[in-house]
Amino acid sequence: MNSKQVVLITGSSTGFGRLFTETLARKGHTVFATMRDPGGRNAKNASELRALAEKESLPIHVLEMDVTDDASVERGVDAAIAKAGRIDVAINNAGYYLTGLEEAVTTEQARRLMDTNFLGPVRVNRAVLPQMRRQRSGVLLHISSAAGRVVLPAVGFYCASKFALEALAETYSYELAGQGIESVIVEPGQYETAIFGATVTAADLSRTDTYGAAKGFPAKVSGALSSTAGNAQEVADAVLRIVETPAGEKQLRYFVSPANFGVEEINALTKQIQAKALEAFGLTADTKFLKGKAAAV
Ligand SMILES: NC(=O)c1ccc[n+]([C@@H]2O[C@H](COP(=O)([O-])OP(=O)(O)OC[C@H]3O[C@@H](n4cnc5c(N)ncnc54)[C@H](OP(=O)(O)O)[C@@H]3O)[C@@H](O)[C@H]2O)c1
Repeated sequence: MNSKQVVLITGSSTGFGRLFTETLARKGHTVFATMRDPGGRNAKNASELRALAEKESLPIHVLEMDVTDDASVERGVDAAIAKAGRIDVAINNAGYYLTGLEEAVTTEQARRLMDTNFLGPVRVNRAVLPQMRRQRSGVLLHISSAAGRVVLPAVGFYCASKFALEALAETYSYELAGQGIESVIVEPGQYETAIFGATVTAADLSRTDTYGAAKGFPAKVSGALSSTAGNAQEVADAVLRIVETPAGEKQLRYFVSPANFGVEEINALTKQIQAKALEAFGLTADTKFLKGKAAAV
């Protein structure tokens, strides 16, 4: 396997996605930095990335991709494969934060959140997997969250979107291992990005009149998260290390956080329980990772 990877990243306009792009490209990996509307709302972000690529001779290609749109995802993936001939790593990063008491979140707000944070990776994975299966190698990398393992009040729908992503990503890891394809989950704690400025708040406040002290949960949680946020480069450095870890040697989950609140313990325990569950269903051998050409046909 070529040690320089071809990486497609969603949500590369700001935050983690932008840092992943710069960090991976500076190490010689070819990056397809995808974003919504690079000719319009993200024109400044797209041109900054292109200027950086030009200045430092980095292998960065900006492509349009809205992860809520099947056709947009397919076009972006097809363009990357047409240019590079392969995709080694797909980083499902696009996502946003929604906060508020759960009863005040409308079904339309919940639907939109799931469409981005959960169905976005579904669309991207479905688009890249035929190529990865042809290659008999590849990595689906999912940016989940500590909120994909631990629940806080006023964050229920965001947690639900990340819990759903965790379940899917773990299932992919079992189903694809026999074809030499890995599925990896990164669980960041709170980090300084554009996420808190782009937060969506629950729209139907008429539901919250009787909640008393609980009405303060959204502000309390968001305040605590943003005031303790770490340097997002830590997550980009972790993603670089994961991308450069040889096939078959990656962990399923990586918790990266300025503070530990039990996620590592949950991950260690569920690893044991999952292993027992697979064994109980007679699935242990068939869910083991098989490298590239040795993989079962
Ligand atoms: N920062 C944290 O503390 C933290 C912690 C745990 C997990 N995360 C996760 O990390 C990921 C990246 O977030 P971030 O913190 O880097 O925040 P961010 O700076 O706000 O970046 C979010 C990115 O997602 C993009 N995006 C949103 N909807 C999209 C769509 N429909 N199609 C394509 N792109 C879309 C945004 O693009 P636009 O510019 O077009 O809006 C932006 O590029 C998210 O999945 C988030 O849940 C963040």
